[in-house]
Amino acid sequence: MAKAHIELTINGHPVEALVEPRTLLIHFIREQQNLTGAHIGCDTSHCGACTVDLDGMSVKSCTMFAVQANGASITTIEGMAAPDGTLSALQEGFRMMHGLQCGYCTPGMIMRSHRLLQENPSPTEAEIRFGIGGNLCRCTGYQNIVKAIQYAAAKINGVPFEEAAE
Ligand code: FES
Ligand code: FES
Repeated sequence: MAKAHIELTINGHPVEALVEPRTLLIHFIREQQNLTGAHIGCDTSHCGACTVDLDGMSVKSCTMFAVQANGASITTIEGMAAPDGTLSALQEGFRMMHGLQCGYCTPGMIMRSHRLLQENPSPTEAEIRFGIGGNLCRCTGYQNIVKAIQYAAAKINGVPFEEAAE
């Protein structure tokens, strides 16, 4: 099958590649770019483990072809920490609030939460729960994921994080 030439930006780096037209974006990211933070959890567009940020939108990267990302700017979980390794507010929040157990959903959760906080820097708990509705976690019961996002929102807004009483 003839391969297509694509050019895009991933985590701030220009990327050029040849891809088969049938290659899904998640496979391109994981197998051709060796960025294995985005996970494959379902292949049916349900779980959100494959979520990346694409041109200012959360995208389930198993739902589009790599050729459709031609010209796009993508951020994956590997692009979230600062170059010196300092964790982003969300990564720190998931760590501090123990917003994970097995960690399989975590890269997708963080990438979705990243866009959520870009769209709404001070979300209510209900807005957080709605905002991550497309991302499934089989372990945590979501409680600490919500706290992690609240922690990050507080840090981004420069206000103290106050944990809600349960
Ligand atoms: Fe993409 Fe589950 S692997 S939504
Ligand atoms: Fe295991 Fe979310 S931490 S699926």
